[in-house]
Amino acid sequence: MVTSGAAPIVDDKYRQIARELGEFGWSAYADFVDAAKVQALAAELRAGWKEGEFRRAMIGTGKNKILRTDIRSDYVHWLDPANVTASQQAYLDELELLRQAINQTLFLGLFEFEGHLAWYPPGAFYRKHVDQFRGTEHRIVTAVLYLNDDWQAADGGALRLHLPHNETSMLQDILPAGGTLATFITQAMYHEVLPATRDRLSITGWFCNRR
Ligand code: OGA
Ligand code: MN
Repeated sequence: MVTSGAAPIVDDKYRQIARELGEFGWSAYADFVDAAKVQALAAELRAGWKEGEFRRAMIGTGKNKILRTDIRSDYVHWLDPANVTASQQAYLDELELLRQAINQTLFLGLFEFEGHLAWYPPGAFYRKHVDQFRGTEHRIVTAVLYLNDDWQAADGGALRLHLPHNETSMLQDILPAGGTLATFITQAMYHEVLPATRDRLSITGWFCNRR
C-alpha cells in the first residue's frame, strides 16, 4: 500500500469546472444536471412560454435598455429567487455548490447568482458580444444550462466562444445539449449564439460579486 500522507484529491464536477475555468477560462460539462431534472425544467419553461411569461430580450441596462432584434432575437423570463419552482430551486442549489467550489479554487469572491430562462425560436440568434459592460461589471462568471433533448450538430444553435489566442481568436463551439453546463469567465469573453433549426431552451445567468 502506498501511503503518501497527502489527503485524497476530491475532484467532483464542481471542482472540475472550477479548475477548467482557472486553466482555460471556459468549461463545457455534459450531464451537469441529469435527464429527468432537465426534462422537468424544460417542461416548466415550455409551460411558462405558453402562458406568455417571456419578453423579447433587450440589450443594455437601466435607462439604456433597447430592443435590437438585429443583435439578439431571443425571449427571456428573469428568475425571481423568491418565487422559483422545486426543480429550479434544485438547480440553484447545484449552482450554489459550484459557486463555493469556484471561490475556493479561484478566489473570485462570487456572491450571488442572477439569471433568466431563455427561448430562441428557430432562426433566433445573439450576435458576437460580451456579457460584462457598463452597468454589468458585477458579472464575473457566465453559466448556461441547456434543456434540449437529443441535440444534433446539424440542428445548429451552438454557443460559439471566441477564445483569445495570440493577437486573434480561436473558435470553440458548444452544442446546447440537454444537461450540458457551459461556463466561462465573463470579462472580455466574446461569444455568440448561432441560429438553430429548432427551439433552443436554456437557463442563462451570472455569478456576481458583491455590488
Ligand atoms: C446570453 C448568451 C448564450 C447561450 O444570454 O448572453 O450569450 O448559449 N447566451 O444561450
Ligand atoms: Mn452572452
